[in-house]
Amino acid sequence: MAFPIDPDDMTPTQAEAELHRLAREISVHDKAYYQRDAPKISDAAYDALRQRNQEIEQLFPALARPDSPSKRVGVSPSAKFGKVEHRVPMLSLGNVFTDEEVSEFVVRIRKFLNWPESELFEITAEPKIDGLSASIRYEHGKLVQAATRGDGQTGEDITANIRTIIDVPERLTGSHWPDILEVRGEVYLRHDDFFEMNQRQLNAGKDGYKNPRNAAAGSLRQLDPSITASRPLRFFAYAWGEVSTPIATSQMTAIDKLAAWGFATNPLTKICRTPAELIKIYQGIERQRADLGYDIDGVVYKVNRLDLQARLGFVSRAPRWATAHKFPPEQASTILQNIEIQVGRTGALTPVAKLKPVTVGGVLVSNASLHNQDELARKDVRVGDRVLIQRAGDVIPQVVRVLDANRIGRAAPFIFPTICPCPLQTPTVRELDEKGEAGAITRCTGGTHCPFQQMEALKHFVGRNCFDIEGFGAKQIAAFFADGTICEPADIFTLAERLDANELAQQEGWGETSVANLFAAIDARRTIALDRFLNALGIRHVGQTNARILAYHFGSWQSIKAWIAASAPQEEILAIDGIGAAASDSLIAYLTEPRSAAMLARLLEQVTITDMPKLATSSKISGKIVVFTGKLEQISRDEAKAKATALGAKVSGSVSAKTDILVAGPGAGSKLKKAHEFGVQVISEADWLALVNC
Ligand code: IVH
Repeated sequence: MAFPIDPDDMTPTQAEAELHRLAREISVHDKAYYQRDAPKISDAAYDALRQRNQEIEQLFPALARPDSPSKRVGVSPSAKFGKVEHRVPMLSLGNVFTDEEVSEFVVRIRKFLNWPESELFEITAEPKIDGLSASIRYEHGKLVQAATRGDGQTGEDITANIRTIIDVPERLTGSHWPDILEVRGEVYLRHDDFFEMNQRQLNAGKDGYKNPRNAAAGSLRQLDPSITASRPLRFFAYAWGEVSTPIATSQMTAIDKLAAWGFATNPLTKICRTPAELIKIYQGIERQRADLGYDIDGVVYKVNRLDLQARLGFVSRAPRWATAHKFPPEQASTILQNIEIQVGRTGALTPVAKLKPVTVGGVLVSNASLHNQDELARKDVRVGDRVLIQRAGDVIPQVVRVLDANRIGRAAPFIFPTICPCPLQTPTVRELDEKGEAGAITRCTGGTHCPFQQMEALKHFVGRNCFDIEGFGAKQIAAFFADGTICEPADIFTLAERLDANELAQQEGWGETSVANLFAAIDARRTIALDRFLNALGIRHVGQTNARILAYHFGSWQSIKAWIAASAPQEEILAIDGIGAAASDSLIAYLTEPRSAAMLARLLEQVTITDMPKLATSSKISGKIVVFTGKLEQISRDEAKAKATALGAKVSGSVSAKTDILVAGPGAGSKLKKAHEFGVQVISEADWLALVNC
């Protein structure tokens, strides 16, 4: 191949231009070769392009581009993915399953917005792609970073892998894109590409993937981007994160913009105005499902107007303005071979069906949940019966009902154990519900002494939304727990001191590299943010959401210690929107009970907890305690509360001397009286709207 200028004779400007040209040209050939299996040039010509790129880079190292082919294909795998903090959190979606729930979704929105009955509002409907979400950042039209969703706050840096996707432009096309644009969407595999790719894996003597979603996940998480480049991943853009200027005023026009800027967007997206229209579109998409050529697991509905989306905001980790209407789960029949009891992290006993393995929706299933004692009795499921099972997406399969009771000598009904199957053999208790009647959950009374619960707690501790220790999964925890090497969280961090790495490397399932990686992964997590730390402790009623709320409230571990030292005044945390007495009691018990407190002290010798970032404090109401009373006429009570919380205020249900503002509408009674007694500032709904700039 003849090139116009020899690298040795190039000026820096020429070198820069040539590196740019080569990056684009090689990327085109990579996509043609790896993803379409249709190379446009000979291998020799392709090698010559890469060789030239390398030569120029060696002569002008400072000009090497971030998207250089030398960084993309054939590089040695980096140790692990870096972390990317999402500037705008990546959310998940709530679910609806029935037509009735679709109507309820629309009614909920109407109520929240206080929207007049006589006026319709638009909602878009589009397929819910069964893949993995990713966020791709463009600065001045150039792809600079891409990340997985991760826990919604922090994802993994998958920039090199995203660059291999044919539907993802390296540079935005068209015009008028914002300087900063984060495009979000789903990475997925088409069926034909999946089958072909799996066939290649099998031919090479490797394990195949169980479905396109898992294959896409495996491909995206390859440390070597040249492997990802050989997997024909695709991308549909359906949302956005940070943008330096608004891209549109409606969902639909925003998606049209993304299409104009070079992204693949889903052609089945439609605008609807009523629940009936939404359901019609849902049914239409469901009919086309088998012929689409890629997996979808439902239809996503989104309020079209972006100003209304902003007013609706979020609850927990899902938007109020969108939901997923899921398709019914896939079903199959098989024989129930046994019923086993599993003990969870909080001691809840779950009956698990051991099944004759059967394929459901392309996945081999041999275990299914029977939920609890009542469900088991209601379904009257017995060993030997033919049962109907179902699975939806990646959730644990469930036993739906008995199809054909084993007529020849049906087994006796399953007796739910009154003794926990754990080695302590502690009695189990059935929890009472709010009415004082027998509730659904039966629990082992061993608490933190129960080895089953201890092990599950450790698995949770190292898990994704907690310490997130890479390569430390359920299998490794179970093995270290069984031989007594790890009994409590602090032991994880002293592992390297106590174990002989060479000895461990000799053991089955381990090797020198994996031992070194494990120790490095543990060390990498000695510093942790307060919200993850609280979640990792596995305190009852303090899950991911409450852990975040509490972490933002206290800000630092020191403040929590100070709060405990001041004998944990409950009013302080009960005033936080979302934290109830159960969470507050349980947190106090955990921090003060001698056994858990001692365990915590040992853990704190090993790890450092970082403070939470300060939330926006610039609003006029941040840090204030606000109470609403009486009827609000322009917005709903829920919208008012949500806005107050978003602006950094604390919403309380009752007036006290600590209350800063009482927003009183018509019909206000005792709270208004109390506010006057305490000298609390009282304002009208109109004043409130002016204050928060609604
Ligand atoms: S919108 C704020 N649209 O579903 C809303 N999500 O179950 C963000 N998904 O994490 C999501 N297809 O990975 C949206 N057309 C679609 C989608 C979609 C698939 C995924 C996405 C999300 C998950 C929630």
